[in-house]
Amino acid sequence: MALRRPFTLPRQLLRPVARSSLGFSSQRKNGLATAVPPVTQDATSSKGPTAMVFLNMGGPSTTNEVEDFLSRLFADGDLIPLGRLQAYLGPLIAKRRTPKIQKQYSDIGGGSPIRKWSEYQCEEMCKILDQINPETAPHKPYVAFRYAAPLTEEMYTRLLDDGFGGGKGGRAVAFTQYPQYSCSTTGSSLNELWKWRNRLEGKRANGNSDVSGAIQWSVIDRWPTHPGLVEAFARNIEDQLKTYPEDKRDNVILLFSAHSLPMSVVNRGDPYPAEVAATVHAVMQRLNFSNPYRLCWQSQVGPSAWLGAQTSDTVQSYVERGQSDIILVPIAFTSDHIETLYELDLEVMEEANSPGVKRAESLNGNPVFIQALADIAQEHLRRGESCSPQMTLRCQGCKSERCLEQKKFFAGDKASSLVV
Ligand code: FES
Repeated sequence: MALRRPFTLPRQLLRPVARSSLGFSSQRKNGLATAVPPVTQDATSSKGPTAMVFLNMGGPSTTNEVEDFLSRLFADGDLIPLGRLQAYLGPLIAKRRTPKIQKQYSDIGGGSPIRKWSEYQCEEMCKILDQINPETAPHKPYVAFRYAAPLTEEMYTRLLDDGFGGGKGGRAVAFTQYPQYSCSTTGSSLNELWKWRNRLEGKRANGNSDVSGAIQWSVIDRWPTHPGLVEAFARNIEDQLKTYPEDKRDNVILLFSAHSLPMSVVNRGDPYPAEVAATVHAVMQRLNFSNPYRLCWQSQVGPSAWLGAQTSDTVQSYVERGQSDIILVPIAFTSDHIETLYELDLEVMEEANSPGVKRAESLNGNPVFIQALADIAQEHLRRGESCSPQMTLRCQGCKSERCLEQKKFFAGDKASSLVV
């Protein structure tokens, strides 16, 4: 089925398996074989509590969850704008794509590792927060995925069951796990959170317009240049650079790769490309601009124009020119997922067919990264702001009432008048 409207779906969710010969022999240590360290034990303070809610897109943990995952993904007009036919076309496309995508998840070990990494990162971050920010402890970890379990409604129900809201008040922080903001990703997750907040605690709950005692939400909506994030990326790059002979090391190309966006979204004013570029620049600054580098974009799909240059084309082009020492650096995700384990490792790297083309480790359970998450959260809790000033500004071309209302809600009383 041809899609006539652009969207930000990962390329591999829409196309056939590239090569049936791709096997596990090429799987890297980054894959599902990487064991998540056991969550450590820690004591918590008696103050608080504060719910820390990680937002991300999620992924199917098993191949049996693929169809439901795709159905939700194709139903999301923020991610895949199919217009009035969304409800009809979404399930059709999802059903048709399911076998191919199941095969791809099977090739990376049977499912996405994003849930186990998200839960681990959130739990570990909360323990650090209990120590460094006891005034808001205990910090309770929650994960809310947009397209896979645990879904936003499941997370919200857990919050209510755990004693937050429902007339009892309490504080929750929605912490996006997309470091760089896009309306297709963080924006979509916040729209979903706002929707379920209204259904479960807002004016529509029991027909009651009194929302006193509802959960007090604040949002960490972006953190593209946080020094801890930058440090974690830089160290992973340095580790991979050390695998090259010393006389070649300085000439290795650092190829930062992020998920692309349709140019229609870019031209609407989406802040994502600028924020991804900011992360890249900050990482290179930390590395003293030791190596040549480029930012390129992966997972384009469909016939419309997308932000380029494409990662796969870039690697091919450099290899053909004889520059075959390249480190791919996934710069816009906080853990492994199908775009790293399948698209980069099993497509781009195998197609390059050069031992000099490697990938930097994903952030996953990196303790430097988890400390950074705790530092970001601590700064947010201490500042006491509802969201960043950037959240109050809609894209120049945005016509969505939902975006407007969602932003007003999360901006809170003081800042909602700034949302335009
Ligand atoms: Fe960006 Fe609505 S599309 S604010």
